[in-house]
Amino acid sequence: MELTQEERQMLDGRQGRAVRKSMEILAALGEIYGARRLVPVSSVQIAGVSYDNLGEAGLKFLEEMAEGGGRARVLTTLNPAGMDVENWQALGIEPEFARQQQRVLEAFQRMGVTVTCTCTPYLSGNLPHYGQHIAWAESSAVCYANSVLGARSNREGGPSALAAALTGRTPAYGYHLDEARRPDLHVRVTTQIEGSYQFGALGKAAGEAMQAAGKRSVAYISGIERASVEELKSLCASLATYGGAALFHIPGVTPEAAAYPPPEAQVCVDQRALDQAVEALNDAGRDEIDFVSLGCPHLTIHEIARLAALLEGRRVQREFWITTARPTKQIADRMGYTRTIEASGAKFAVDTCCVVAPIQGRFHALATDSAKACYYAFAKNRFKTRFQSFEETVALALGELH
Ligand code: F3S
Repeated sequence: MELTQEERQMLDGRQGRAVRKSMEILAALGEIYGARRLVPVSSVQIAGVSYDNLGEAGLKFLEEMAEGGGRARVLTTLNPAGMDVENWQALGIEPEFARQQQRVLEAFQRMGVTVTCTCTPYLSGNLPHYGQHIAWAESSAVCYANSVLGARSNREGGPSALAAALTGRTPAYGYHLDEARRPDLHVRVTTQIEGSYQFGALGKAAGEAMQAAGKRSVAYISGIERASVEELKSLCASLATYGGAALFHIPGVTPEAAAYPPPEAQVCVDQRALDQAVEALNDAGRDEIDFVSLGCPHLTIHEIARLAALLEGRRVQREFWITTARPTKQIADRMGYTRTIEASGAKFAVDTCCVVAPIQGRFHALATDSAKACYYAFAKNRFKTRFQSFEETVALALGELH
């Protein structure tokens, strides 16, 4: 891989230990993937922030990078941590875990990383625009940035995203290049899709069809006329989870779709496939549910307003977590939504989510409107799941759905 003079200095260690380590990571990645050069990035998003995932070894690595002089050169934000930084006690997080999680965040902060912990950075000030090269790690956010915003990111790991932050560069391969953005499978949707829950089901059905077709996985999805931010973030999370997708195109909805004709290879998602996707995520009976969560990916302020209207003057009957970003919660505070929601007994779990928080063994069955959360609830925590619409999920929390 060809390096500029400044990049060679970084690799030689003339800009400090952390930068040298970062360059070594990027150079190794570039060699593996056949990149010919590095490309400057305008923004970074780092995943693997929860101490539950990082453990002692991950924390030590971060502290060494901070001590080695690592400083973010571009806007860098974080994926959800393992706890609500301000309200962890109310969520039943152990003090020892909280202490270690705090050390993780302090290490990032010392490196100049903005410690906004969210999987929807594009709603909280980290918003790249069309054609910009970025290095993001959270799979749903990478898919959103590539597909909906038209920015260019590979799906980074924690160390490679940090390395990009500390050098301001990433290897130019994969989705940074035009040729990798061309769709290779036409997903024909022949049924009406509406609401974030149905878009999540579509992501599961389409993602599994893409895997079965053995395609590299840039889908050209036809049959969708319009989609809201909430519906697209749900589709991105689900398609990334079940199809390994980091990019898709929807004609009339996403910005690059018009550049391509529909690929010849095609699969169809009809009502039956959608029903099967929903059915597969419903192995828990309603009366088994002891944990309810909304906000995978993190809720928008619009969704929080809907939730407040549904909970107004009522009491929830089950542990109910509302996960969102800190800046979104601050708007909810100002609008009075927080008061309404908390008066119902539901809890805000800000900076975190029901997947990265250390809750294995605490619950038995999760109800949610997120297909992605269902996948990880089982894969990570062995919870049974119920998957239904936003409104039905709230009704279940209220004990009104039997
Ligand atoms: Fe976000 Fe956690 Fe879901 S990081 S996409 S809320 S699994």
